[in-house]
This record gives sequence, structure tokens and C-alpha cells, in this order.
Amino acid sequence: MGILIKNGEIITASDRFVGDVYCEDGKIAAVGAGLSKERAGDTVIDASGQLIFPGGVDAHVHMELPFMGTESSDDFETGTAAGVAGGTTSIIDFVIPARGQALLDGLAMWNEKAKKAVSDYAFHMAVTWFGDDTLEEMAVCTREHGIPSFKTFMAYRGAIGVDDPELIQVMEAAKGLGALVTVHAEHGDAVVALQKKLLKEGKTHPRYHAQSRPAPIEGEATGRAIMLARMIGEPIYIVHLTCKEALAAVTEARSRGQVVMAETCPQYLLLDDSVYEKPGFEGAAYVMSPPIRPKGHQDALWAALSSGLIQTVATDHCPFNQVGQKDMGKDDFSRIPNGAAGIENRLALLWTYGVLEGRIDVHRFVDLFSTQPAKIFGLYPRKGSIVPGGDADLVVFDPKGTSTISAKTHHHRCDRSIFEGFEVKGKPTHVIVNGRVQCVDGKLDVERGAGRYLPRRLGPTQGAQAF
Ligand code: URP
Ligand code: ZN
Ligand code: ZN
Ligand code: ZN
Repeated sequence: MGILIKNGEIITASDRFVGDVYCEDGKIAAVGAGLSKERAGDTVIDASGQLIFPGGVDAHVHMELPFMGTESSDDFETGTAAGVAGGTTSIIDFVIPARGQALLDGLAMWNEKAKKAVSDYAFHMAVTWFGDDTLEEMAVCTREHGIPSFKTFMAYRGAIGVDDPELIQVMEAAKGLGALVTVHAEHGDAVVALQKKLLKEGKTHPRYHAQSRPAPIEGEATGRAIMLARMIGEPIYIVHLTCKEALAAVTEARSRGQVVMAETCPQYLLLDDSVYEKPGFEGAAYVMSPPIRPKGHQDALWAALSSGLIQTVATDHCPFNQVGQKDMGKDDFSRIPNGAAGIENRLALLWTYGVLEGRIDVHRFVDLFSTQPAKIFGLYPRKGSIVPGGDADLVVFDPKGTSTISAKTHHHRCDRSIFEGFEVKGKPTHVIVNGRVQCVDGKLDVERGAGRYLPRRLGPTQGAQAF
């Protein structure tokens, strides 16, 4: 059966017009005004007065990630379902093999876990160490498994972090494969040194997590990663960029014409480091890396979204419960599992605090939320657009009304929301995933295992210049 969405204001990264969308067999079959394609048995959605966006693409999430002695609390089913409730219809998760583990063994584990996803998913492959077989395994990932993007962590030394020689090897390998390297940029050794110093002084509270990873530590690593990418002549994508120092490094590189792309997340746009002063141990909910920054950085990030310096907004969704997980670090901030929930809130927050506050326009909003992540990571135009032949992943959005984000009502499997009490305007009335309505007015009707793996391919490597 098809779905006809009638008389909505269709908004994409480039276009805006009132029209209809007809979906059939999981695909968009037609887009235009006055379509009269429906047949008996079709679902008809009257979208008068509402907006129609392409479904969101969240290019940075961690479902059931084993990390810091525990596992992120949303699995692929609950996490993708929370995404659907919030208008996100595709995710890119990270396969993160342990140090010493083969990349393809990691992939086999993630393939198994992800079978329960309710919406489509792809993987980035993290390279956490560089062994004799890593180059060949990266080639197999790219050529046979549709994974042309590799993740490196400059932080988390002694666990999943790499050192500079390893990072250089990953970049060189990726260059040879036409693949993209993405980087978590923090000076890993500096973080370890600061953690040791603070703990030695008896400073164990969650606020010291932020003090152990100040902005210059991110700025330095961002600049270093960009310089190495420049040396090798490889494009680079900086994940979860949070601060002015890192933006300065990106600005400098782009002004020289180097291909550098950057992502930020709603928490870095909307929160400041006063969250770490919440009473008791509540600041632990905000322990993530990089940390939430002092006031001042947020405006710089918004400006970078509007100017195009930052291309995507992802969530880095990586929830841990306060009770039983975050409290592992009650007496030592360095043992608090790093990460927070957010996949459900991205659309609402970007719309309310970005578009409605005049910081970004509607096209930029769609670009950041859906189109750019799809383009950069090789999912476009199947995802990230509203064109015939594309997957029928759509959000029908009613701009009227206000609601309040709360852990009491969110779909994240997490006992805290870092956006608790945030008022957001508008709501998705219908979220369509692969041609099936999976959420109506906040009520989910998802199907465990309906999500499909999305193999990806990148276009020819963009012209990154070597020294
Ligand atoms: O604190 C965070 N960001 N946790 C998830 C892992 C990562 O660094 O992205
Ligand atoms: Zn309806
Ligand atoms: Zn990270
Ligand atoms: Zn992450």
C-alpha cells in the first residue's frame, strides 16, 4: 500500500514549495502539486499547515557500546526507535574493535547487535590500533562491506585511542582507498596528565572532568590532525567539535583550501559548563568528551553553522544511566562513563533554538540535520533528500505547539536527560520510515529488525592538497 502526503510545505536543503509526496514500496514515487496517484487502501495524510522534511540522518551515535567498564544503555532497537520518535530515520554507528582485535571481528559483532534496529543503519569503522593486517582489513571494509569512513580517537589513551604514528598510518591507508578519516580530537596524553594531577589533589567531583579536558587541548589536537591530513593529502572530518580553539584550526585550514569538514552536537550549542555545578552527583550526567564548554563557545558554534564552517549536527548519542553506570565514578571523575543521550532531541532543538531564533534558515536546518551527513558519508540521494527513487523516510512536522523535554517522557533508555526542562516548539505528527508510518503524534509503531544495513560508497576523493 502506498502513502500519499498531501498539501504539506516540502522543505529540502535547496527547495521550498507546497505539494504532495507519494510513497510506494518503501520509496518516494512522486513529488509535486496536486498528485492524484492514490489507490484504494493507500494511507492519505493531510499535511495542510505542516512541513515535510527528509528524515534525519544522525552520523554519530553509539548503541550498546562497550565503554569504560559498562555498555551504553540504548541498544540498536531502543536507540533507533528513540531516533524515529524524534524524526531521525537513519544512523551511522561506530564499530569500535578493542585494541588488538581484528576490524572484521569487530564488524561481525556489530552486525549481530544491529540486527534489531528499527530503522536503517550504517557503520563507520574505528581503527584503535594498527597491526600487520590493518591495511588489508581497511581495504576489505571499504571495498566489500561498504564502510568507506574510518574513525580515530586521539583521546582515550591506553584504551581505544591511537598515537600519532598510528593516526598517520590510518590516514595514509585511507588515502589509498579513497576513504574518509574522522577524528575525535583531544590531546590524549595531556588529558591523562591533567587527570592525574587533579586526582592527586583530591579533586574527584564531575566538574574536574571538564577541567581535565580544557578547550586548548581540543584546539591543539584539531590543528595537529588537520596538519597531518594536509601532509598526507587526505580529507578529514572532525567529530563533535566544541570550542573556538578548534574552530580556529578549521577556519585556517579551509581558508587555505584544505578539505576539512566538521560536526558539532546540540549539547555543545545549548549547554555551558555550569551544568557541572548541579547539586550532588548530578553533574555526572553531563560527563562526555569533549566536555561542555564555558559560556562564549556556543555563540561561535552557532555562527559556524550559519556560515558553513561546520557542515553537520550529529548527537554522539551514547547514554549511560546515572544509577548503576555514571555512579561508577562517584569517587573519581575519570571513571564516570563518558556520554549522554540525545538522538531523539536533535530535530526539536535545532528547529527551536536554530531556526525559530533566527540563527539558521530552514534550508540550512535540513542540510545540517539530513542532507550534509548523507552527502559526506555516501548515503545521498537515497537518504537526505525528497526525490523520486529515494527511500521514503520523511517527517511531517506541525510547527504549532510547545512541549518540554524530560527523562520522564523521552524514549531514550536513560534515567536522565541533559536537556531536561528545555522547551521545544512544534512536533513531528508522522514519521515515515522506509515507506511505513512508524510514529504518529509521538506514538511509536516500530518493528524490531526492520532496519536495513546501508552499505556506502564515497565519490572520488575531493582535492585535498599535500604539502
Ligand atoms: O563522551 C563521549 N563522547 N562518549 C562517546 C565516545 C566518543 O568519544 O564519541
Ligand atoms: Zn494522520
Ligand atoms: Zn568522541
Ligand atoms: Zn562518539
